[in-house]
Amino acid sequence: MLDVTEQKKNQKVLKRFFDLSKDLFCIVDCKSHVCIYINPAFEKVIGYSQNEIINSKISSFIHREDQQALENKFRELKDGLSVKTFEVRCKCKDGSSKWVEWNAILAPEEGLIYGVGRDVTESKNIKEEMARLERVNVVDRMAAAVTHEIRNPLAAVRGFLQLLEAKGREAQEQHYYKEMIKELDRANSLLTQFLALTKSEPIKMCKQNLNTIIENLYPLIQAEAKVSGKKISLKLEKVPDLHLNEDQIRQMILNLVKNGLEAMQQNGEYLAVKTFTEGEKVILAVKDEGNGIDPRILEKLGTPFLTTKKDGTGLGLSVCYSIAKRHKADIKVETGAGGTTFFVRFSL
Ligand SMILES: Nc1ncnc2c1ncn2[C@@H]1O[C@H](COP(=O)(O)OP(=O)(O)OP(=O)(O)O)[C@@H](O)[C@H]1O
Ligand SMILES: [Mg+2]
Repeated sequence: MLDVTEQKKNQKVLKRFFDLSKDLFCIVDCKSHVCIYINPAFEKVIGYSQNEIINSKISSFIHREDQQALENKFRELKDGLSVKTFEVRCKCKDGSSKWVEWNAILAPEEGLIYGVGRDVTESKNIKEEMARLERVNVVDRMAAAVTHEIRNPLAAVRGFLQLLEAKGREAQEQHYYKEMIKELDRANSLLTQFLALTKSEPIKMCKQNLNTIIENLYPLIQAEAKVSGKKISLKLEKVPDLHLNEDQIRQMILNLVKNGLEAMQQNGEYLAVKTFTEGEKVILAVKDEGNGIDPRILEKLGTPFLTTKKDGTGLGLSVCYSIAKRHKADIKVETGAGGTTFFVRFSL
């Protein structure tokens, strides 16, 4: 049995370790789930001070969607099961949330749960981004293969039509052949555009201004909005020129605008297209006043053929991600009940 001075000394030593540690330490009362200790590393991650957390229920600092998971883990601990690792999101003071991976044990004789955690937000984000890039690669490969396969029979049909056109005696007959060839050429040029999305063909970039592309596109998107009883607002700040492929950027803006318009009701809601600079980045933002993105598909955005729409192909966003990647830009999404904003961030 240690005497009181010895115990105090040990506590002091332990406290030094907790203060120094980069891992997060947390002690929770196992009955009330009230927090009784957190170390400075935990304070730093969550943004609240010890005083603000101690004596409050730990669940108040956990993301709403993860509270049940935490309760389950506490129950498993109390049932004597060994809890290895689990991840929950902490609700930080600045409104953000951070993923923390915890190891926890129950000390029944003290009635306490001890947790050691590690902030894994960054590595989780990187993993998600890698998965998204892999999906984009799949789209690229698929687009290349499918386009190739379709172009060959088209070329054959076109050849025969040309033969028939040359043989056609009546003017009307020749006119039909010409129309058929024209339609085939149109389909072919569409496929060429689509193929340009794939890695096999390098795209031409030239130095130009994002605002000019948007201004040129404005009549088209305005007409599109008007037809569906919605409005478009442009808020274009002066931005430096970027190396862009105009056709692809047009396509990307159209896809984002179309999604924004489709997400809104027909009562004069606004879709805003904005450009601005932020540090070393030029940002294109498309903001709608819809109901937000379905949480079940949010993590999988960009997956080809993922759609919640009756007539959607689910290719719009995967094409956007692919175009952004070719422009070394990234896409960030903010979404909630008040609407969704897609941010395309180009590096200078
Ligand atoms: N601004 C938005 N607001 C709400 N949901 C969105 C928004 N943008 C995309 N989504 C969701 O993401 C899904 C995929 O979008 P994507 O553009 O890839 O395909 P789509 O719009 O369904 O079909 P397509 O673009 O081929 O017409 C949509 O079905 C929709 O559920
Ligand atoms: Mg779409």
